[in-house]
Amino acid sequence: MNLKKSAKTKSGKTATQPIRKTPRVSRKLNRPHRPGSSQRSDLPELKKLSRSALLALIADLQKTVHTQDHLLSQAEALGNLGTWEYDPSTDSLTYSRSLAELIGFPSDPQPFPMSALDSVIGPGAATRVRDDLSEVLKAAQHRVSQSTCELASRNSQTHRTAYVPLLDESGVAVRLLGVTQDITQSKAIDQELRRVSHRILTLRNEEQRRMARELHETASQTLAALKLTLGKATRALLPVEGEAAQCIASALGLVDDALREVRSVSALLHPPMLEEVGFAAALHAYARTVSDRSGIRIATHIPESLIQMSAEVEIALFRVVQESLTNIHRHAHANSCLIHIAQVGEIVTLKVEDDGIGIPNLNGNGSSHFPAGIGISGMRERITQLDGTFRISSVPRKGTTVHVQLPVRLRETAAIC
Ligand SMILES: Nc1ncnc2c1ncn2[C@@H]1O[C@H](COP(=O)(O)OP(=O)(O)O)[C@@H](O)[C@H]1O
Ligand SMILES: [Mg+2]
Repeated sequence: MNLKKSAKTKSGKTATQPIRKTPRVSRKLNRPHRPGSSQRSDLPELKKLSRSALLALIADLQKTVHTQDHLLSQAEALGNLGTWEYDPSTDSLTYSRSLAELIGFPSDPQPFPMSALDSVIGPGAATRVRDDLSEVLKAAQHRVSQSTCELASRNSQTHRTAYVPLLDESGVAVRLLGVTQDITQSKAIDQELRRVSHRILTLRNEEQRRMARELHETASQTLAALKLTLGKATRALLPVEGEAAQCIASALGLVDDALREVRSVSALLHPPMLEEVGFAAALHAYARTVSDRSGIRIATHIPESLIQMSAEVEIALFRVVQESLTNIHRHAHANSCLIHIAQVGEIVTLKVEDDGIGIPNLNGNGSSHFPAGIGISGMRERITQLDGTFRISSVPRKGTTVHVQLPVRLRETAAIC
């Protein structure tokens, strides 16, 4: 209310109009008059009021506006955000006190010329803001964008800004309202969370690999030695007959079972051969084993020239193949299946496709309403932890496809763990 400026009316005449610091109020002032609105029909009532009653009404209104301005400022400060309004006819901004404090705009005088924006948020961010403004004006559509800027007053800050165009009767954007929020802190927390989650994933993989190796080097070797010893004892006691023969045969059988169990637990803990023979060979070998065991034809399409992927990414892809093949074996009633891997630039994609019965009750985009089970949610979690995307598509009686997309290497946040 403390600033005045000349503005053109629709008829082209110049009128003096108050400018408020918050767009919410000025929006009301600038809202085009709609035919049939009650604004004008209230005027005859006002004319009947005495001068003192009118003055009291104005004072009352001013008080209300002041209180609302104050509440809005408090809410903005609490939300770490500020509001603004852009006027294309003067290429200038008016903004709330919170925005001035948040970003370092001068609190007065307003409106602030856009040509001086570089000096407040730096030339790079200023160009991005100008581009956003002109695109929102042109498209006359709401937009949200995020950008990091080097503030003249402080260090770098990351903002999320919502742009809302105000349209005239013909749908042309005549002004823009905006809300800019400082998300520097929440972005830093996000990054920290991602770093910790990568760290947990790495530690889990390392721990599982260590346990797999230990199982192989201790329990497996001991059981193998026990089997040899039992064999030797049997030969030394020959001829073994009756109950003794039965006991030895059953002991040998138990040792075989234990060896198999230890090997499968060890393989579950860490994909076998991944380090020894490499990702592609390990995947081919695994697919062959499942095919022999299940009778399902499994084709593998893995490019020969795969660029080196981080260990976490290779393990994650291997795990998805393992779980998908297990699901196909257990649920799909499929005859054949294809494992397809491709790399485009720094992105690797994996598809595991079967020709089985499909997943019942799968919704359109294949992203939810799965029957209960931890296999699918485990795959999804593993992939999203590595910044990838996971999706399942399925057609009844035609089959199911698991789709994965992953950055080939972990981002810097993980690398510094
Ligand atoms: N390839 C597939 N073909 C048909 N149904 C599948 C397939 N994969 C998963 N399903 C269905 O989705 C359910 C959930 O799978 P999952 O989360 O791996 O749990 P689980 O295998 O332990 O049941 C399965 O029970 C099955 O009904
Ligand atoms: Mg499963």
